[in-house]
Amino acid sequence: MRRTIIAVGIVFAGLFVGAIATNVGAQGIGDTSSTGAQVAGGEGGEQVYREICQTCHQAHAEGSVGAGVVPALAKNPKLADADWMVTTVLKGRGGMPAFAEMLTPEQVADVTTFVRSHFNDYKTPVTVDDVKRLAPKSEE
Ligand code: HEC
Repeated sequence: MRRTIIAVGIVFAGLFVGAIATNVGAQGIGDTSSTGAQVAGGEGGEQVYREICQTCHQAHAEGSVGAGVVPALAKNPKLADADWMVTTVLKGRGGMPAFAEMLTPEQVADVTTFVRSHFNDYKTPVTVDDVKRLAPKSEE
C-alpha cells in the first residue's frame, strides 16, 4: 500500500515537471501569420529565433510596444558588441528571461550569430567558446 502511494506521488511529480516543460515549449507558438521566411529545416540559429525569441521580438525582429516594450533586434547598433548580446541572452535583462539554463551553448551561439548577421550587418560568427567564456560559472 505504501509503495503504491509513493509510486503515485512519483507519477504526479513527473506530470508536474512535464506540464512545465510543455508550457515553456508553448511560448514558442507566436504570431505565424506575418512571417514570410520559413525555417528551411536547417539553420539552428534561425530555428531558435523562430521558436523562442520571435514570440517577443517579432518575426522581423522589429520589437513591439504593447503591454511592455520589447526592443527591436533589427538594425540595433548595440548588437555590434557580440559579448554584450551573448550575456543578455544568457542572463536576461529587465523583462527578458535568462536563457542559460534553457539553451545549449551551441544554440546561444547560433541564435546570436543569426540575429547579428540576418537582421544586422555583423557578419562575424559567435562561437561556442565565446558563449562558454561568458556563461554563468555555476553551470558545470
Ligand atoms: C518573454 C519575452 C522575450 C523573449 C522570449 C526574448 N526576449 Fe529579448 N528582450 C525582451 C525584453 C522585454 C527586452 C528588453 C529588456 C530591458 O532592457 O529591459 C529584451 C532585450 C533583448 C536584447 C537587448 C536589446 C537592447 O537593445 O537592449 C537582446 C539582444 C535580446 N533581447 C535578444 C533575445 C534573443 C536572442 C532571444 C531568444 C533566445 C530573446 N531575446 C527572447 C523580451 C524577450
